[in-house]
Amino acid sequence: MKRLSGFSIWLLFACSLIMASCSGSGGSEEEFELGAPIAKQATDITSSGFTANWSRVYKAESYLLDVATDIDFTTFLSGYKSKAVSNLNEEITNLDGNVSYYYRVRAVSGSIVSDNSNLIELTTSFEPDPDQTLKNSSDNFLIGVALQSSKLNGNYDEIYKREFSSLTSEYEMKMNVMHPSQDSYDFGPADAIVDYAQENGINVHGHSLIWHNSTPDWVTNFQGSDQEFEDMIEGYITTVVTRYKGKVTSWDVVNEAFEDGSGNLRNSIYRQRMGDDYIAKCYQFVRAADPDVLLFYNDYSMVSDQTKQNAVFSMVDDFIARDIPIDGLGFQLHIQYDYPAKADIEAAVQKVVDRDLLMHFSELDIRVNPNNDLTSLSQDRSLAQKAKYKEMVEILKSIPEENAYALTVWGLVDNESWLINFHGQQDWPLLFDSNFEKKDAYYGFLEGLQ
Ligand code: XIL
Repeated sequence: MKRLSGFSIWLLFACSLIMASCSGSGGSEEEFELGAPIAKQATDITSSGFTANWSRVYKAESYLLDVATDIDFTTFLSGYKSKAVSNLNEEITNLDGNVSYYYRVRAVSGSIVSDNSNLIELTTSFEPDPDQTLKNSSDNFLIGVALQSSKLNGNYDEIYKREFSSLTSEYEMKMNVMHPSQDSYDFGPADAIVDYAQENGINVHGHSLIWHNSTPDWVTNFQGSDQEFEDMIEGYITTVVTRYKGKVTSWDVVNEAFEDGSGNLRNSIYRQRMGDDYIAKCYQFVRAADPDVLLFYNDYSMVSDQTKQNAVFSMVDDFIARDIPIDGLGFQLHIQYDYPAKADIEAAVQKVVDRDLLMHFSELDIRVNPNNDLTSLSQDRSLAQKAKYKEMVEILKSIPEENAYALTVWGLVDNESWLINFHGQQDWPLLFDSNFEKKDAYYGFLEGLQ
């Protein structure tokens, strides 16, 4: 009896606990807690619609879907403010292309409505007009490509003429090619490129008069005095700049003069023979030969190497203070799909704008395989590259028009990119694949221009 009555007490206690917890939530079944759905990524994204998806909620009878064009859900898509849906997805149609949409969802059971789910953001895809090209989509700046004189025919010719408004010679307007020995010049390849541009009404950016990596041996081993060396450099610059006067709009006068990390001047033969002020002298030689040509200083790691960036801007400020001619800066931008960050690129670009100089994104290519984890271009990586190309275009587009000179990509088709040899591994850094087909990257570029 004693044991039984103990059990009854326990039972009573347990029952009262259950009752208490029931009455705590009102005691009626209608008022149980209804979980919020988990909104899932949109699928079937096209230029005119997408499917919104979410997870099932226990006891939910239907769902309320919000679709907005702003992240704060103040502007709803017509018909999509708390739209009742009984499925776990909803196809939304008749949308605009290349527009961002946001959705969230709540579960409903009787009169109970759950909290909002997480929100999902998506951008409908971009459907280009077939006549739209890179160059005719750009009002603010030139669209450039680096090329070689042996590849001005067939598909190359067709794409250069269709898409690009500026050309840079990938290596044939460097000193080792144009001035191969002390008493000879070879302007064959450079002339072919400049003539091609002239025939087709395309701008030419000259690249590059002085670069430590394209110094011919005879210059490194020059036998004369320092003054004779300087006179020789002045003669070379004057000859080349005069030859292309009126045909080449801009020159990278000196390329990559600063060391990585330290920001010190590279101890090139030019510095050894002409002194620390050799850069300024070269800019003055070019200006004397052509009063109208635009003078650029060009370098890499201008975003990621803060020390180098500071050194370059100190040089520029010194030039401005001393009236040494300089019109613009080239950021090479051999970058990666995930690096550098947009804000860091914008901050570096702003320094060019602050000095009222021209900005040239001069050698853009975007590696997708820096860690060598791909054997072919995956869809994910391709879309990440597309987004980065779009971002780069948007950055240049967002600065004042008078400061934006050009965006030049460093090559046309992936399999011919210099990066493959340079890093000794596979990559797909450009806008066109090896069959001359437009990649996602191309469409990202085009979207950025809209
Ligand atoms: C590279 C070319 O792409 C190669 O074909 C050539 O062999 C070496 O130079 N920074 C520059 C460019 O300023 O001139 C370089 O171009 C790539 C790095």
